[in-house]
Amino acid sequence: MKRILTYGTYDLLHYGHIRLLKRAKALGDYLIVAISTEEFNAVKGKKAYHDYLTRKEMLEAIRYVDLVIPENTWDQKRDDVLNYHVDTVVMGSDWKGHEKFENLRDICEVVYLDRTEGISTTKIKEELNLSSDNIYSK
Ligand code: CTP
Repeated sequence: MKRILTYGTYDLLHYGHIRLLKRAKALGDYLIVAISTEEFNAVKGKKAYHDYLTRKEMLEAIRYVDLVIPENTWDQKRDDVLNYHVDTVVMGSDWKGHEKFENLRDICEVVYLDRTEGISTTKIKEELNLSSDNIYSK
């Protein structure tokens, strides 16, 4: 059984996320998704719309996802790979060549997948903000 691990926030789930998860699962048999907790997002200076448990529940409903675990720190990746017997860590191409993932190559394979063009959580937030402004200004 080939085990795949990927990291992310996965807030306001969108088709870019789904396509990434589908391609990640296709690289193996068992897909683990580590999603950032509220506390870790605060460390990164980010705030998700949905809390950790809500994002976890939504990801668990996706057919490609076998297990959701919390991402609490920048430094847990080596432990995750070893503890969950991970063969391949997969990330979107926005992380290509980043040392946080390149440093794992001695214990697992590291693969970067192209992002889907034209969609992101940030874009959804920005565009919904704009459209609600439009509604209220009428
Ligand atoms: N992802 C992707 N294509 C997109 C958006 C995200 O393949 N259009 C991938 C990312 O590369 C990452 C995973 O989905 O591997 C989770 O990304 P995340 O950062 O949670 O989503 P974004 O939409 O990029 O969020 P943000 O705008 O807050 O950065």
